[in-house]
Amino acid sequence: PSASLRLDPAHAVAPVNPRTFGSFVEHMGRCVYTGIYEPGHPTADADGFRGDVLELTRELGVTLVRYPGGNFVSGYRWEDGTGPRESRPVRRDLAWHSLETNEVGIDEFARWARKAGLEVMYALNLGTRGVQEALDAHEYLNQPSGTALSDLRRANGSEEPHGVRIFCLGNEMDGPWQTGHKTAHEYGRLAAETARALRSADPGIELVACGSSGSGMPTFGAWESTVLELAYDQVDYISAHAYYEELDGDLGSFLASSRDMDHFVDSVVATADSVGARLKSTKKINVSFDEWNVWYLSRFENDPKPETWDVAPRVIEDHYNLADAVVVGSLLISLLRHSDRVTVACQAQLVNVIAPIMTEPGGRAWRQTIFHPFALTSRLARGTVLHVGVDAPTYDTAKFGAVPTVDAVATHDEATGELVVFAVNRSLDEATALTVPLAAFADLELAETWTVAGDDPYVRNTADEPDRVAPRPLEGASVDGSSLTAALPPCSWSALRLV
Ligand code: AHR
Repeated sequence: PSASLRLDPAHAVAPVNPRTFGSFVEHMGRCVYTGIYEPGHPTADADGFRGDVLELTRELGVTLVRYPGGNFVSGYRWEDGTGPRESRPVRRDLAWHSLETNEVGIDEFARWARKAGLEVMYALNLGTRGVQEALDAHEYLNQPSGTALSDLRRANGSEEPHGVRIFCLGNEMDGPWQTGHKTAHEYGRLAAETARALRSADPGIELVACGSSGSGMPTFGAWESTVLELAYDQVDYISAHAYYEELDGDLGSFLASSRDMDHFVDSVVATADSVGARLKSTKKINVSFDEWNVWYLSRFENDPKPETWDVAPRVIEDHYNLADAVVVGSLLISLLRHSDRVTVACQAQLVNVIAPIMTEPGGRAWRQTIFHPFALTSRLARGTVLHVGVDAPTYDTAKFGAVPTVDAVATHDEATGELVVFAVNRSLDEATALTVPLAAFADLELAETWTVAGDDPYVRNTADEPDRVAPRPLEGASVDGSSLTAALPPCSWSALRLV
């Protein structure tokens, strides 16, 4: 089979937004403890941060990190994680039935983020807390000095304010599993009033209201509409969360998961714009896709729930295969394609918990299969995202009907002339001959090509064999005359850079 792409530098979506390559660190399982932080580890620095994880975080190309939750945040008291370590309380974390020692709090995390070169996106607890506690957290984080909480931060060793620019107003407040779960009306009012108060303290901050925890939520659409009717003028973003997994051996539908992400974003944008129209507002609300990934959620839901309260237990440590990497690559294609309205995105999570980076306590850190499409997309996507038309054969899926075997997006850097094409081949058994006419571009030559592919969609990386799935050059790609041609292997994700 063959497929072709239609693209033109004149047909741009939006600039590539660095915040598309965000990640997420929750106080959950081993993401923080024995993930980013493990004093005593051979690579740990003076602050107790694992050097091997810091290095892999940089290699992954993460730009922003959402913190400290997730479901965890809806019962979290931020002040527990401040001040002398020996007097920090140990608390129950109801979300994950574990114990939180509070050894790491916002001062430590901000230090880690600086070392990793990341912007912090800070999530506030609107589950068990409200306007006052949100203001207090903001004062501790961002007020320079001369107030009770800013001076407390300085006394705790963080002389400079942490300068957080973007805050989440709670987490997944539409979900009945959330501590302090609310109706859309209850949440919309709280989000609006919290936002109004935060903005009087700091007008320049960006605020994210909770949207839906998945497109399958019974309140999907109605939730966004009600929340935005109540908080439109006060917030900048509405969030979206989505996790995908292969169910019942239906690999074909799983490989087409980005169809759901496309539908999710298009529906939320349409809903937000319709609220804007009703309010006669010229302002646009963008989407913060601040949790997305492959997660074998059904396995977690079927697992027996813990009976003990443990510190940093192994929770949802999914081990990813090649097909998962192809899906992650295609989700990144979907996010880039929506760069005009999805201006923040966070893969959930960064380390150990459904993560591209895995660690063993006291041992090595290694790259899961899903590490590779993220790292390559973050490194290669530059300049402007282009509209890409895809002409490809379709295949039938139980979940999405007929789906094109190939999906693709491209970025173009006007300054250097560089063009990068990202493409997936969802066909399980056939390579697809891809043609990309380049007449609209100045003379281009192939600079580098990568593919994440293999004979077995279920092959995984492990701590002992961490490179079973790794990118390799896409053999046989070429530019002749005014077209790029390449054979996309079955069940693969590829990137081709031309200069
Ligand atoms: O990332 C794991 C969990 O998924 C988060 O805590 C929650 O927000 C979502 O349901």
